[in-house]
Amino acid sequence: MTSEQHIVGDRGVNPYRLKINDHNGRLFDTHTYGRPLKSKTFQSLFAEQTVYLEIGSGSGAHLIERARRDPSASWVGIERRFKRAVRTIEKATEAGVDQVFVARADVQDVLPVVPENSLDGIYLLFPDPWPKPRHWKNRFFSSDNLKRLAPIIKKEGFFYFKTDHRDYYQWAMKELQSQSVFKVLRHCADIYKERNPEKEIRSEFENLFLSKNEPVAEIMLQKVGF
Ligand SMILES: C[S@@+](CC[C@H](N)C(=O)[O-])C[C@H]1O[C@@H](n2cnc3c(N)ncnc32)[C@H](O)[C@@H]1O
Repeated sequence: MTSEQHIVGDRGVNPYRLKINDHNGRLFDTHTYGRPLKSKTFQSLFAEQTVYLEIGSGSGAHLIERARRDPSASWVGIERRFKRAVRTIEKATEAGVDQVFVARADVQDVLPVVPENSLDGIYLLFPDPWPKPRHWKNRFFSSDNLKRLAPIIKKEGFFYFKTDHRDYYQWAMKELQSQSVFKVLRHCADIYKERNPEKEIRSEFENLFLSKNEPVAEIMLQKVGF
């Protein structure tokens, strides 16, 4: 595909596709680097001492705030929407937060290039809940995906999941029964019954669900084997 073909999609020009460039080595796009994401600079991020990954990082509120509080680590988001990926890097730059990187890519095009034992933790926050039973196979939280992710997480690294969707939370708890690579450190169906949202590092979707008084569930896992 030529660069012009990917800029002019079926629905005309997406202005955020025009803004895709490497933003000083912080934004990596599969149209530029191929599938899987072949950029050597991107892959070198995972050689840093402490690295966290957020899958479906949206417009970056959570990732940027984490990076602001812990600038010694690298914070890598994967986000397939152009606008959200570009806005994340723009906002990080505006905030003077350097250690944020984004792969503008499908998660399946990124996981194959992440080295084994390289991640301290993975966040999966408010992923699409795929509510219809015939779509449950698309849910990212699954025992199969946990087994695929385990090798790239360091020993005792974590996988952290949040959702507003009660049924997805219950499904996730059941999925955990058919794997043994992670143990549950904590889980809760409604974290804000006991916790102050102001003290939480929240994502954009979390703010949205909180504004509608929707319960927020979490599961914190730790890698114990693979
Ligand atoms: C419901 S939003 C949540 C965004 C963010 N985590 C938050 O909590 O505000 C889900 C995000 O995952 C992204 N996403 C969904 N499937 C993806 C995939 N296969 N690869 C990369 N990103 C994906 C979507 O584009 C969207 O931004």
